Amino acid sequence: MTAVKTPKKLIEVALPLDAINAAVAREKSIRHGHPSTLHLWWARRPLAAARAVIFAQMVNDPGGEHGYFSGMTKAQAKVKRDELFKIIEDLVLWENTNNEEVLGRARAVIWESWRETCELNKRHPQAAELFDPEKLPAFHDPFAGGGALPLEAQRLGLESYASDLNPVAVTINKAMIEILPRFAGRKPVGPLSPDEKQASLHEDWSGAKGLAEDVRRYIQLIAMSRCRLLIRSCFPVRRGRYVQPVIEGDGYRFEVRSGAWPAGAENGTKAGGRGANFHCLISRAPVSGSYIKAEVKAEGQARRLGARLMAIVAEGMRGRVYLAPTAEHEAIAREAKPTWRPDGEVPAKL
Ligand SMILES: C[S@@+](CC[C@H](N)C(=O)[O-])C[C@H]1O[C@@H](n2cnc3c(N)ncnc32)[C@H](O)[C@@H]1O
Repeated sequence: MTAVKTPKKLIEVALPLDAINAAVAREKSIRHGHPSTLHLWWARRPLAAARAVIFAQMVNDPGGEHGYFSGMTKAQAKVKRDELFKIIEDLVLWENTNNEEVLGRARAVIWESWRETCELNKRHPQAAELFDPEKLPAFHDPFAGGGALPLEAQRLGLESYASDLNPVAVTINKAMIEILPRFAGRKPVGPLSPDEKQASLHEDWSGAKGLAEDVRRYIQLIAMSRCRLLIRSCFPVRRGRYVQPVIEGDGYRFEVRSGAWPAGAENGTKAGGRGANFHCLISRAPVSGSYIKAEVKAEGQARRLGARLMAIVAEGMRGRVYLAPTAEHEAIAREAKPTWRPDGEVPAKL
């Protein structure tokens, strides 16, 4: 078998980590226009990191390690590498997500590296199939999850594929990398509501803007039609509800309350900072991650950990009803026998 000549990639040599980290930290607070608003995905990867990593994997390091592309001094290679760093620094900024000038620079360098690689492998027996300088390799993430990697691969100009065991992940990926490109650059076709008739006919419908406008128009249509009444039960009006632990003596109970929850309530008993550190609900004493892993796990294995019913969610005629549990509810819940239990092995070492 003829060996493939693989030039060392930028990611194997160096990355502008500070710029990537800063962009990733900032991305956490972006809501508008971010795929995280499409559907909640618990292990969503930051787009900035995915974009930087794919770029750095596609681009050859200018240092010419592995013996290819010699003829450049260390200093010259550094200058060229710094140019690649600058592209990454621009690429990871949220406001450049759809900046065609920045993306164009990145795509051009990816093509350049790919052509270098094809040139190196032009005598490979399968060169026509594997090293076509006119066709970039396709990208496939078989465990795509929230789809950050296939989305960013597509943005960088690669033909992108995603798959996953979980149908929710598949739906997210379909929406982002399959359906959207099908409508890219198209004008909206949905009916405008009567009071919007004079909307401009010369809008910029580049990218997904036309599709987004169609979604807006159809939502408007549904909102104004009888449809809204018919499907009302599928979209219950959200009245803010939260569970408030109430400490009584050395015990506690839960109350269901409505309205805006107190600041920081979404963190529960989680302590600040990184890691699985918590505090005791009653005494507020800190409970470290290592204590939970060792002591609490041992208590659980010795079957000395209890469980408390926090709330009851019932389907009412006009939406969900949330009830605070009574002692009687808790006793009934404790008696309930599950009709199913997992039959797989639980990993011995987590
Ligand atoms: C860590 S997440 C994916 C992370 C993703 N690559 C990213 O960068 O955001 C792992 C994913 O693998 C999927 N998965 C696990 N086992 C699988 C299997 N046998 N076939 C396909 N997908 C699988 C899970 O459903 C989950 O979405």
